[in-house]
Amino acid sequence: MDFNTLVAAPAGWSRVEADALLVVCVGDAVPAGLDKVLGAALAAAVKAEDLSFKPGKCVLLHRVPKLRAPRLVFATAGDGSAKSFSKAVAAGLGLLKSGGTRHLAVALAGVDGPAGAHAEALVAAASDAAYLYRHTKPSAPAAPLLARVSLLCSTAAEAELKAGLVRGAAIAEGVKLARECGNRPANHCTPTYLASEAKRLGKQFGLKVEVLDRKDVEKLGMGAFLAVAQGSDEPLKFIVARWQGAAKGAEPVVLVGKGITFDSGGISIKGAAEMDEMKFDMCGAASVLGTLRAVAQLQAKVNVVGIIAACENMLSGRAVKPGDVVTSLSGQTIEILNTDAEGRLILCDALTYAERFKPAAVVDIATLTGACVIALGQHRSGLFSPDDGLANELHAAGEAALDPCWRMPLDDEYDEALKSNFADMANVGPRAGGAITAAMFLKRYTAKLRWAHLDIAGTAWKSGAQKGATGRPVPLLTHFVLTHAQ
Ligand code: BES
Ligand code: MN
Ligand code: ZN
Repeated sequence: MDFNTLVAAPAGWSRVEADALLVVCVGDAVPAGLDKVLGAALAAAVKAEDLSFKPGKCVLLHRVPKLRAPRLVFATAGDGSAKSFSKAVAAGLGLLKSGGTRHLAVALAGVDGPAGAHAEALVAAASDAAYLYRHTKPSAPAAPLLARVSLLCSTAAEAELKAGLVRGAAIAEGVKLARECGNRPANHCTPTYLASEAKRLGKQFGLKVEVLDRKDVEKLGMGAFLAVAQGSDEPLKFIVARWQGAAKGAEPVVLVGKGITFDSGGISIKGAAEMDEMKFDMCGAASVLGTLRAVAQLQAKVNVVGIIAACENMLSGRAVKPGDVVTSLSGQTIEILNTDAEGRLILCDALTYAERFKPAAVVDIATLTGACVIALGQHRSGLFSPDDGLANELHAAGEAALDPCWRMPLDDEYDEALKSNFADMANVGPRAGGAITAAMFLKRYTAKLRWAHLDIAGTAWKSGAQKGATGRPVPLLTHFVLTHAQ
């Protein structure tokens, strides 16, 4: 899809040439400044009760006299924020979905014109509406016609909006990649597939990609990662992908992704209901790939290392058993009381591995706990960090990217839940506060790091009729990485 800006004053919007014109209206009256044709059409729609000024409403009008675009959509927004704009655009796109719109022009009325964040939100909404999973469903309906989106603006705002569109397009490609990886079933998206995707990205965007196999991981001493992988016939992969956009010596941002391509629970097997959704247990890994793609496409002047620990969590005669004790790369021993708490086991070794990059910051991203879904639902990812500065940076990145998270506690008291009589720690505590004890487990491996953890169990995919990967938190992570760019 193509995105561009189009300079046009509100008093001339009805002359804009496009297949459809979408006007996002803020406020509770016909916005001042709209030209006569649009003002009259809006007033008539409200009078006919086809539209009200309550936020979240929209109406599609055809062949409005004297309007150059053959389709006109009005969508109402609660305020002028990028978030409200994004919702209104999504609603408007919904009305145009099945129609013949190839070129859409979008305008914001009732407040000062759009800013960079609006431009970015527009790209996200349009590319979200256009995404269709078809890799294993060739019968899926053909992609919508929409091919070009123009954002109407003033000359003064054009440069900022262009930058927003470019940033939005890079993020949208990253999100699409993450969704595509996540949606592929576990018999397609294996650890080997993730490694080949990383290599492919590397070739396309100039990333250095290194893939370690079981033997390498054994030599390193990643006993916790190996324990999870040992029950599966699919070979594990430990993927290190590096984007070097800054000076060689500049400390990198390290992103660590959980890449469980299927989580059966292992010997502590999960129930059958919704077990299929455990193909999404690699969405942390997918978000690392998506973010690297976005950052590389933007040629951002920052160094980023993506680390992905990828394997299946399966049961077999070779599988790790409850009560088994393993030695992690850090040297600390772990009593694996529940084989379904496997994410923290692969992440702890990856976090220890991250130390060698002397990072400016390390963020791990994982579909780590069902408890996080209970705590926060599907709107905000769980954010954990002992470092206030880093937590604030990530929170702000989430707000700016419309991909929000919420900070959760890491008090020392929660650590007591991980005591074991047979090892330095157990891999699980009691059910209560499960998302926090999981983070406390990871905290034991990050003393030498400036570290944060994102639990994306609730945000990485949707269940039910809309089942599918969301591509989150690629927007948050990309914004975060860009704040570290020179
Ligand atoms: N991948 C799951 C977390 C998960 C569960 C995400 C449901 C989304 C929906 C993780 O590996 C897991 O199984 N966690 C356990 C931990 C427990 C055994 C301490 C959980 O949350 O039940
Ligand atoms: Mn599990
Ligand atoms: Zn899992």
